[in-house]
Amino acid sequence: MRQLLARQRGKKHNIPIAVLISGTGSNLQALIDAEAVNRLSATIRVVVSSKDTALGVKRAQNAKIKTEIVRPSDYSTREEHDETLAKLLLRSSVEFVCLAGYTCIVGPRVLEAFPNRVLNIHPSLLPAFPGLNAPQQAMQFGVKITGCTVHIVTDVVDGGPIVAQGAVPVLDGDTTEALAARILAEEHRIYPQVVRWFCERRVHVNGRMVTIDRHPLDDEGDG
Ligand code: GRF
Repeated sequence: MRQLLARQRGKKHNIPIAVLISGTGSNLQALIDAEAVNRLSATIRVVVSSKDTALGVKRAQNAKIKTEIVRPSDYSTREEHDETLAKLLLRSSVEFVCLAGYTCIVGPRVLEAFPNRVLNIHPSLLPAFPGLNAPQQAMQFGVKITGCTVHIVTDVVDGGPIVAQGAVPVLDGDTTEALAARILAEEHRIYPQVVRWFCERRVHVNGRMVTIDRHPLDDEGDG
């Protein structure tokens, strides 16, 4: 049984994906690193950045991934920006679109072109603390556990179906920076794993309910 599972998992899935960024791109790097060791089941075909100065653009270039800059300020309306992005992503023939610190709202054209196929990672246990500065919100509220959430993107900001969450404790004497760094480390663990689940067709979405076909080997650090 274990051999059969190991063989199934060894099957090549090289699903083309896009990663959308606006900043540091540490989650992009986690995805690049997972792809490099065949633990993503995806090929990052294009990185789209809303800022040409984003450090993530350098990371993509270092990994020899095609990069595109699509600045919202270059468009007179949100609709035009949305349309351009949708066309670019469709032209790239990607199957999934992964937001990784992308600070623009994804519009209806993109969401219609990729139904249940746009993912985002957010630094809190949603539905708590949506929006900006989530680690700071968690600290100020006084929660003892926070974390990160990978969810499917819908027209409700940070409100789509939840695929996976990682818990991170808030420690006595924590600073927002220290907490944010621990959350980020957890993001780097769960985001590549979720992308892999999608690319291996192991994710089922039924309304808000998302289930994953688990493999026993997932718990052995190969998930
Ligand atoms: C992460 O905290 C992510 O949860 C949020 O934006 C941040 C991006 O960080 N959506 P990075 O650019 O991946 O380093």
